[in-house]
Amino acid sequence: MLALDPVGHTCAMPLPRTLEDFRRTFIMMETEGLEGYVDGGSGRGITAVRNVEAWEAVELLPHVLAGSGTPDTSASLLGVTDQFPLLVAPTGFQEYVYPDGGRAVPRACAAAGVRYTHSTFATSGFADLAAIDDLSWWFQLYVFTDKGLNRALMAKAAEAGASAVVMTVDLAVLGQRDRDLHTGFSLRGRNIVPCAAEAGAPDTRLAPLWASLDHDLSWETLSTVIAESPLPVIVKGLIRADDACQALDLGAAGVIVSNHGGRQLDTAAATARALPAVVDAVAGRGAVLVDGGIRSGLDVAKAIALGADAALVGRAPLWGLGVGGEPGVAAVLRILQEEFQRSMTLLGARTTADLTRDLLY
Ligand SMILES: Cc1cc2nc3c(=O)[nH]c(=O)nc-3n(C[C@H](O)[C@H](O)[C@H](O)COP(=O)(O)O)c2cc1C
Repeated sequence: MLALDPVGHTCAMPLPRTLEDFRRTFIMMETEGLEGYVDGGSGRGITAVRNVEAWEAVELLPHVLAGSGTPDTSASLLGVTDQFPLLVAPTGFQEYVYPDGGRAVPRACAAAGVRYTHSTFATSGFADLAAIDDLSWWFQLYVFTDKGLNRALMAKAAEAGASAVVMTVDLAVLGQRDRDLHTGFSLRGRNIVPCAAEAGAPDTRLAPLWASLDHDLSWETLSTVIAESPLPVIVKGLIRADDACQALDLGAAGVIVSNHGGRQLDTAAATARALPAVVDAVAGRGAVLVDGGIRSGLDVAKAIALGADAALVGRAPLWGLGVGGEPGVAAVLRILQEEFQRSMTLLGARTTADLTRDLLY
């Protein structure tokens, strides 16, 4: 397999074999601050680092002699069974990372049988997704002050085949990204946002759309989205058990325990540490997913053992995209899947239901 450089030329370089090598290769590419935008966190990046360390700190007590040589990695989420409990998290602006990145990521997901979450600010539109065979996907909604636009986005997503709406609640304002201030990286405000264009937004350019995000997100906003969504709503970006319960009480189908990959409130708690309290409080009343710092299939197994129904990865597919285009994303997903399967075997888990807190030291 050949790697591709950011402008699509083939290089005589094999794709990396581990996620860490994908990350290092991505960071070494000279991309005018893009590597810092993707990899960095808010403030001094404390939460972004601690997210990763918190998964590393989870120690395991594996069972032996459990007959787990060929584990069943499948898992069910909102009534649909996936090959393994991992989704690709919503990330906007994939085209900055690689030409046609907005289509390359969902195409790689479809080929790998991995559920994909499509950001409001993705660089491909609903029609692009509808054209990809076998794609299972959710639509991530950033809420705008224009309620008609929110309704139209959700309706278009449902028409195009999305099976859930993921409402992101931790971006009332953008976290201060110190690294971008240093590099001067900024998003291209005149670029068209395809989903908004298809939903009939009056101004479809990034800058005015970004300026019209709803900064006063409240429980009432969530209730309105739930009432107006044609699809089940999952709330992304909370880390508190009481918030998770309130979201479910209002009718959400599930929550994603997330601090936006450490890109919003710096020193917010690491998600691996926040997850167990949310799982216990939700007590099976809705789905609980988690993201932030997942860097291996072993981390996915730990997330399930802590009680999550599934985990999501944000940066890892973008490293794959930047380093190797669609084949790079496919390689990253394959590595995660193989590592998850191997981890189950070594933990003595024959099915994902065997991944329980009993395996944690
Ligand atoms: C470059 C980049 C863009 C992102 N864009 C979005 C977005 O548009 N919507 C959203 O809900 N989250 C967004 N996120 C956050 C991810 O969905 C996810 O919560 C986070 O990346 C998970 O942490 P990880 O990158 O350590 O896996 C973005 C993250 C990155 C790195």
